[in-house]
Amino acid sequence: MATRSLLLEMLEATAATDSGFEVNDRDHAVQVATRARRSGADDEVVVAALFHDSAKAIDAHSHGEIIATMLAPHVRPDVVWMLRQHQDYTATEIDNGHNPLRRLAHRVLQRGERHDLAVRFVDEWDLPGRDPEYPSDPVESFLPEIDRVLAQHREVHPPFATWVARRVLRKVWHVSGVAQRRIRSRVAA
Ligand SMILES: [Fe+2]
Repeated sequence: MATRSLLLEMLEATAATDSGFEVNDRDHAVQVATRARRSGADDEVVVAALFHDSAKAIDAHSHGEIIATMLAPHVRPDVVWMLRQHQDYTATEIDNGHNPLRRLAHRVLQRGERHDLAVRFVDEWDLPGRDPEYPSDPVESFLPEIDRVLAQHREVHPPFATWVARRVLRKVWHVSGVAQRRIRSRVAA
């Protein structure tokens, strides 16, 4: 869960985080959101783009995971995936120089719409979004989108591994309860 003021505060704080680029993280994020909006992306993607690096103000290493968790109650699953994974997709593209085989392997492994949106985000908006000459829209212009997205309430699904682990634990708990009751009834008999 997140509030508009908290998210904007985090965004502004990234003006001081150092990622080693000419354009700082705050201006980069505004540029990425502007590029997404001008490409016709919907509100959820635009707002996610605006805040995708904001959690660098908290922890650079896990910033994708943090902002994905914060926005998950308000955006659909492929947007959560995009936020959670964008560091990996960016690293893959940068490290492999757009190697087509690597891209194919990535696509097969992460198949589906979630992958397509994450790749589009990285290729079209995130990686090009460090142009110091790019005329970005002001942050204030995104307030209507932010408010619309934060007013939405989505059901949050846990990651698949967590879902499986919970089901297994529930089953073990159930089976052990049944076993205990049987043992007790035999002892009593
Ligand atoms: Fe970024």
